[in-house]
Amino acid sequence: MERNRSERFSRLLRYYGVENEDILAAFDEVPREHFIATKRNHWNVYLDEVVVTYNDGVNFSTSSQPSLMAMYMCWGELKEDSVVLEIGSGTGYNAAVMSRVCRKGMVYGVEYVKEMVEFANDTIRTLGYDNVLITQGDGYFGLQEHAPFDAIIVTVGAYTISPYWYRQLGENGKMVVPINLETLRSNPTIVLRKTNGRLIGAFTSHTRFIKMKGESERKYFEKLEKLRSLEKCKYAGERRWWMPLDVTEFASQRVYCSTEVYYIGNNGYARLKGDRWLMFGNVEESLEKLEEAWNNTGRKGLFRLRYSITFDEEGNMEVEMGENRGT
Ligand SMILES: C[S@@+](CC[C@H](N)C(=O)[O-])C[C@H]1O[C@@H](n2cnc3c(N)ncnc32)[C@H](O)[C@@H]1O
Repeated sequence: MERNRSERFSRLLRYYGVENEDILAAFDEVPREHFIATKRNHWNVYLDEVVVTYNDGVNFSTSSQPSLMAMYMCWGELKEDSVVLEIGSGTGYNAAVMSRVCRKGMVYGVEYVKEMVEFANDTIRTLGYDNVLITQGDGYFGLQEHAPFDAIIVTVGAYTISPYWYRQLGENGKMVVPINLETLRSNPTIVLRKTNGRLIGAFTSHTRFIKMKGESERKYFEKLEKLRSLEKCKYAGERRWWMPLDVTEFASQRVYCSTEVYYIGNNGYARLKGDRWLMFGNVEESLEKLEEAWNNTGRKGLFRLRYSITFDEEGNMEVEMGENRGT
């Protein structure tokens, strides 16, 4: 039986708990099959599923699960006149849907893969949406020429929150970012609001995304270089470690994880063995400070903490933890 075209997604998304009528209407308006090359019956793209949209052996892209896209729009507090930056636009489907929510605003997207940018802009033009534009580039650097943004929606697993996004987000703006946590092997989503120059918020849900390429990834692997430079540090004892590894990784920004987990200090490093850090060189003081900060939160897990984030002059993220009381 042919489904009513005017209800492409809304019935399904309502079932998944999406209540915002503007978002539901936007999903019904944008034909997802235009953004996804598929030989299957096109109604199959109107399921709440991730669909692979690009794979050339080097680069890979997917169209995210629609219910998750809708949640990102809710968390980003998209409004009719919002100016939005999307990082990792892929085929442009999410940007197109957001442009229908922000009809009097503008949606700018940044996508790494040139072929996808051309496809996205062509599709969007064919559909006649004139308030959405995708640019090719490394989304780590944001899009300074169109800042400030009311919302920055990141749809690719970022190793860290970029200082460029922080600077380009307007005061009171919202940022939604899946953070690539190697110790967790996934990308939980953090939702932040810029308040008095700080990013304040919490992790909302477990999510999985493609890992971000370019500068974000390069900076993560810089940690390995730092670790190599500390290789000659002498063994300096061990200490027990109760703090969860995902919290340690996010709050310290100093964890490098391959088959083993390392904490990298300025003058020493530690390697995890069971529930202990084996310390090399001068690293104990730094670990102590971190654990003390976590003890002060009441020893909460990743999703039970509230984070307050700023950046130092070199653009490194500084994270303060507190208890998340859900306010
Ligand atoms: C999950 S897909 C995006 C889904 C997209 N929002 C949609 O609706 O189709 C993630 C995208 O991020 C892109 N990407 C990876 N690293 C990037 C970077 N540094 N800057 C911008 N885009 C990047 C990938 O090429 C991929 O297309």
